[in-house]
Amino acid sequence: MKKISLSEMSVKGKRVFVRVDFNVPLNEKQEVTDDTRIKASLPTLRYLVDEGAKILCASHLGRPKGEKKPEFSLKPVAERLSQLLNREVKFAGETIGPEVESLKAQLKDGDILLLENLRFNPGETENDEQFAKELARNIDIYINDAFGASHRAHASIQKITEFVPVAGAGFLLKKEIDFLNMATENPPKNYTVLLGGAKVSDKIPVITNLLEKAQKILIGGAMAHTFLRAKGFDVGNSIVEDDFIAVCKDIIKKAEEKNIKLLLPIDHVAAIKIEPEVTIRMIKKGKDIPENMMGLDIGFETIELYCQELKDAELIVWNGPMGVFEIENFAAGTMEIAKAVAESSATTIIGGGDSVSAINKAGVADKVTHISTGGGASLEFLSGKKLPGIESLSEA
Ligand code: 3PG
Repeated sequence: MKKISLSEMSVKGKRVFVRVDFNVPLNEKQEVTDDTRIKASLPTLRYLVDEGAKILCASHLGRPKGEKKPEFSLKPVAERLSQLLNREVKFAGETIGPEVESLKAQLKDGDILLLENLRFNPGETENDEQFAKELARNIDIYINDAFGASHRAHASIQKITEFVPVAGAGFLLKKEIDFLNMATENPPKNYTVLLGGAKVSDKIPVITNLLEKAQKILIGGAMAHTFLRAKGFDVGNSIVEDDFIAVCKDIIKKAEEKNIKLLLPIDHVAAIKIEPEVTIRMIKKGKDIPENMMGLDIGFETIELYCQELKDAELIVWNGPMGVFEIENFAAGTMEIAKAVAESSATTIIGGGDSVSAINKAGVADKVTHISTGGGASLEFLSGKKLPGIESLSEA
């Protein structure tokens, strides 16, 4: 298999298999409720259309576990893609087989065919060789543009690259790698990492990897409570992952040794339960969270401190909300931090998942430099792990 960049490939009249990540939310009427990921694939798809390639698009949606479940069909996505591209997108009701081969054979230059959900076939998640071979049948060029799924060693991401003559990265995958490399390879000196979200265990590999690179690490969200416990604070009923207290202690020590500022919330918004109408209590600077309460957002002094700490950054990477921002009473920390990130003159990179919803809710998505389309994939990348979807292209 040869590997060259998409813009260097001669694609006219070639059958190009594009693995995209169209894992988008659908409502009960089977309508796409967030088309961000579809829009993110447009530069690659438009380029291939304009250059006269015969395009075969493929994705997963949800986790149907190898079974054909209508609620996970990609048909609504084909319709949305067609609207966005302003051209017909043909839809194959299957992933492989005679019907797909016949549709493939009929493709004219500039045509697009979207396959049905790859995960309707158990071979996809099993990285099955036979399934990969079938996907690669009569394909001239393979393009991976599915950054969000590139941490999965699945047939359409990894195994397929063994059976195609040429493979390369799409424009979205390349853009994601370029930005995330900035955060992991050679970051500027004034580099601040903001981490939040529920589970500290999810973020430990990221902190460990970035401890070597960042100048400041600011921590919020429920994950901060395990760190606060490691520092000897009482955090009441807040979520704490007891098994990770020792790891947090170790990280705090390492940060001190390396002269990296690792900041934890100094005050909190607490309540007895996570409910919209519940009475909230402000826990003042340096005070413990009372026994029957849980910390559900960072307090005002923490917001001020973190916004101040963001001011001199040249690069900011943010992954995970500062509190339960879905509920108004616990949203201020995340919303204020989102605005501060957006207003910063730094290069700003937002990891996927909840931080993307937060930045959208704050109405400042257009002011950040890069919003990753991958949740799990961006976390693994920031942890320094090798992603199968990227490695299999490099191994060529
Ligand atoms: C995502 O939404 O993070 C990607 O599409 C990967 O989906 P998965 O976690 O079901 O593999």
